[in-house]
Amino acid sequence: MPSADPPPEPDDRPHPSGPRAAGGRRERAAVLCGLAGWVPPRIVTNDELSQRLDTSDEWIRTRTGIGQRHFVEPGQATSDLAVEAGRRALESAGIAQVDALVVATTTPDRSCPATAPLVAHRLGLTGAAAFDVSAVCTGFVYGLASAAGLITAGVATRVLLIGADTYSAIVDPDDRTNAIIFGDGAGAVVLRAGHSEEPGAIGHFDLGSDGAGEELIIVAAGGSRQRSTPGEVSRADRHFAMQGKAVYRHAITRMSASARASLTAADWKVDEVDHFVPHQANQRILRAVADDLGLPPERCVSNVESVGNTGAASIPLALADAAARKVIEPGDRVLLTAFGGGLTWGSCLLSWPTLAPRTPSAPTTVTPVSAPAEEGGPHAS
Ligand code: COA
Repeated sequence: MPSADPPPEPDDRPHPSGPRAAGGRRERAAVLCGLAGWVPPRIVTNDELSQRLDTSDEWIRTRTGIGQRHFVEPGQATSDLAVEAGRRALESAGIAQVDALVVATTTPDRSCPATAPLVAHRLGLTGAAAFDVSAVCTGFVYGLASAAGLITAGVATRVLLIGADTYSAIVDPDDRTNAIIFGDGAGAVVLRAGHSEEPGAIGHFDLGSDGAGEELIIVAAGGSRQRSTPGEVSRADRHFAMQGKAVYRHAITRMSASARASLTAADWKVDEVDHFVPHQANQRILRAVADDLGLPPERCVSNVESVGNTGAASIPLALADAAARKVIEPGDRVLLTAFGGGLTWGSCLLSWPTLAPRTPSAPTTVTPVSAPAEEGGPHAS
């Protein structure tokens, strides 16, 4: 049963980010009220990777802007990260129960069942609806749309959404192209029922996919198409594979188009965006998308230097960092955009509410995108 509606917010200023009815009438909307990030304590620097892979700190920083990432300890799984971030997000919202929990992840604890029910159990969310969303690095934005939909449809009044990924479990540690990019982490938000004109109302989603690009980002084996029969599956097929150059180009095109679609739907101009918080794919992609949109670098939030690409966790981790450091402040207009395997992409908008975010356990640094973007795709070899 949905819990009772929270009291309405006293703020009556117009914040046109939530869904609006014709004539500007207020509608029921999902409103951000809790935020947290969590990364496992173990830091893996570029220099540490360079000791066993044919790479260097200089190569990794130049191509990706990444300086370090966090890895779980052996035996830790995505639910362990999700529980840490989820607990902190509930504390941030000042609540102990929700009606539903959504976990966005590409690295569930198991193929079956979903990870969310276990996380709900461990968080003491008795009887809450719980399910996973699988949209690779777009998972958090798809999860936001799912969670917001539960609220606007009247199915739930409070939803916990956790983006959590353990890429160290699926990336081949000897694959120098992918091992340098991805890290482990989790970020979480709490949404509550509110109205479309208040700060924190989430709206104007743009979501899309193109399955013709299935093979560009893939773990080939382990599903129903190519089963993991011992001895029959190659090492490459058991691990995460990515066609880096093609992904680079798709990421820029799709993220830019999706961001524009959300802005157009909300009737926001690009220069009205105070903070662009993209999926933290890599620094050059972020810079190229910001350039394409005409956004000054200082409006693009980036913490990829300190956490790498954390998949579905990356946007809430960046948001938690930026809000805790007061880079994002109440009233600021925020654009979220993601791109990932599938291919999938998505964007949405909100005006920032008053929040008490919980930051990752290990400090990360929020920096504006500064690395120059090369034209025509990644490294011109
Ligand atoms: N260290 C040193 N050299 C490396 C390397 C590494 N970690 N990884 C690849 N190389 C080498 C390649 O072997 C290749 O060598 P060669 O020219 O002798 O064959 C050379 O560097 C160029 O490889 P290439 O794959 O063409 O590099 P690139 O410039 O495309 O950069 C990526 C690789 C992965 C950094 C880049 O394609 C990229 O950023 N892609 C998008 C990835 C991403 O962000 N994905 C997330 C989307 S959600």
